[in-house]
Amino acid sequence: EVWNPNGKYRVVSTKPMPGTRWINLLIDQDCRVEICTQKKTILSVEDIIALIGDKCDGVIGQLTEDWGETLFAALSRAGGKAFSNMAVGYNNVDVNAANKYGVAVGNTPGVLTETTAELAASLSLAAARRIVEADEFMRAGLYDGWLPHLFVGNLLKGQTVGVIGAGRIGSAYARMMVIFLLPYGQFLKANGEQPVTWKRASSMDEVLREADLISLHPVLDKTTYHLVNKERLAMMKKEAILINCSRGPVIDEVALVEHLKHNPMFRVGLDVFEDEPYMKPGLAEMKNAIVVPHIASGSKWTREGMATLAALNVLGKIKGYPIWGDSNR
Ligand code: DGY
Repeated sequence: EVWNPNGKYRVVSTKPMPGTRWINLLIDQDCRVEICTQKKTILSVEDIIALIGDKCDGVIGQLTEDWGETLFAALSRAGGKAFSNMAVGYNNVDVNAANKYGVAVGNTPGVLTETTAELAASLSLAAARRIVEADEFMRAGLYDGWLPHLFVGNLLKGQTVGVIGAGRIGSAYARMMVIFLLPYGQFLKANGEQPVTWKRASSMDEVLREADLISLHPVLDKTTYHLVNKERLAMMKKEAILINCSRGPVIDEVALVEHLKHNPMFRVGLDVFEDEPYMKPGLAEMKNAIVVPHIASGSKWTREGMATLAALNVLGKIKGYPIWGDSNR
């Protein structure tokens, strides 16, 4: 799909993105906008090289793509100076390679903070009250009357919530959850700023041992890969709830499946997976797991905002304005 075919600057988006604001922004600034409409969900490096072609000023890409040396070399050969991920996370982007080829990298922080935190909060409540299991039970026609023990879950009031990675999203999640914990609950935070009345844990292991509900919000890098592994799962309370809306590899998913099998009262809410789009064998069968397909930033306002920020990032570099994004700070 091509917009403004005679535009001076060629900007490629590897996917159609929500809204039209981002397209209009680019068109207004003399860009020809090319949107890849291939049916394939995940584009390969070769697909993207073909999209970049011989002349390309900037690319808006997605977190499913492998933006490494090969793609930045191709973009630089085509005269490109700007790349933006349409995501806050950029573990799929080799920023050193981008620097080497003189390509600026942007991401889309801020606009997805609340939306992502809302999904983490939703998964927390859904896991605590076994909402998905109960829904499946109803749809299967199994409900034959009220029973005292039917889908009994956890009461959040008075519990301890642990936030691992209390940055923008983790802190927003904590703020949202406060209301459920009152009046006796407490927060344990492994890092980040410490709001009043909350307790800063001395270590991550303390958070894992003491919290009833733990939400993971770290950036994925070498230090957070398999942060939650077999040993750490074993430290957690038998009836704890673990939420992950960050990146899949933060949890050792094979160890998690084993843990779920042996601890039926332990529950997880997962938005992300180690080998997306796949789940490790056994996870889909676990009743004590809620799994959703990486939708944490999926509100209309946020997705349009992400598209707009990504377009501004690329436009900014082409036009010489400052570029948004954590990787450039
Ligand atoms: C991100 O932005 O990094 C999320 O994973 C998708 O919105």
